[in-house]
Amino acid sequence: MSFLSRTLPRTLAVASIAMLAALWAGCAGDYPQSTFSPVTELGVRINELFASLFWWTMLVLVIVFVLLVYILIRFRSRPGVEPKKFYGNNLAEIGWTLGPAMIVVILLVPTVRTIFYTYEEPPEDALVVEAVGHQWWWEFRYPQLGIITANEMHLPVGRPVDIRLSSADVIHNWWVPRLGGKRYNYPIAARPQGAPEPKNYERISFTVNEPGQYSGQCAEFCGESHALMRMMVVAESPEEFDAWVQGMKAPANAVPAAGTLEEQGYNAFLRVGCTACHAVAGTPAMGRLGPDLTGIGSRWKIGAGLLPNTAEHLAKWIRNSAEVKPGSKMLAFPNITDEDMTAIIAYLQSLR
Ligand code: CUA
Repeated sequence: MSFLSRTLPRTLAVASIAMLAALWAGCAGDYPQSTFSPVTELGVRINELFASLFWWTMLVLVIVFVLLVYILIRFRSRPGVEPKKFYGNNLAEIGWTLGPAMIVVILLVPTVRTIFYTYEEPPEDALVVEAVGHQWWWEFRYPQLGIITANEMHLPVGRPVDIRLSSADVIHNWWVPRLGGKRYNYPIAARPQGAPEPKNYERISFTVNEPGQYSGQCAEFCGESHALMRMMVVAESPEEFDAWVQGMKAPANAVPAAGTLEEQGYNAFLRVGCTACHAVAGTPAMGRLGPDLTGIGSRWKIGAGLLPNTAEHLAKWIRNSAEVKPGSKMLAFPNITDEDMTAIIAYLQSLR
């Protein structure tokens, strides 16, 4: 017996066990972006379709493998036995053509049904949110409410929402896995052929059933910081949502009291040029090239989900965001004095 034939079976066994352990480890843990725990009917339908297709294909797989193993054993080569030879068998040929065709039809029916369901029009009174993809952040506009925010979308639980997806530059893709489905953000110029003329957006509609924070991200490669284009959906009770809307419409600290550090920061914010790209409701800052900063102090992160929302990271971001986010289109401000920086950050953090 050679060395190889002695050690191979044991090596294979150890390798299989290690592989199974690694696979098993993948089943544990907390996955905020799992499609398997949807909180909308849309997500539930998609998940059910996936589960049913998975188990039907498993059944087919088991049948095929059982047959295969049976044939391998039953018709294995044996000394002195000459196998019978067949040429052509109409029944078998019709069977292996019709069988798979039937399976495809069986899989098609629930799939098409679910596809149509995911494109159902939202009701008239749905909350409209325009989700605009930018390289590399998300703009969320609420036209019925007159507010705009970025990267963190607030939604009321129990009310249908009509998310209208578009892009300011290249193709992006909205994906918040626990809300179900993903859908493209097309720039108007790259709309798919045949899209109805007046509609310059794609749409995804659902009702969130459970309060919580649901993270998502861009799911279409859109340039060097594509992987850093994240978002958070905060689903809250209608009362909490209304309070958030009021805070966004008339932010309490937009123009800070005279003599405070925040006021010093507010003045520096206007002076150094932030307002060319950024807006804060209730102030003269109305720039629209970058994220709206109303409520920035309460956002879960900065830089579209990139960094914790702390003074230290804000300073790093303002000085040179491209250092932490490749390709970031925000201008660098290396020359802001430490005093101004501290004040600007105090101001931004007070916007909540
Ligand atoms: Cu936007 Cu990828």
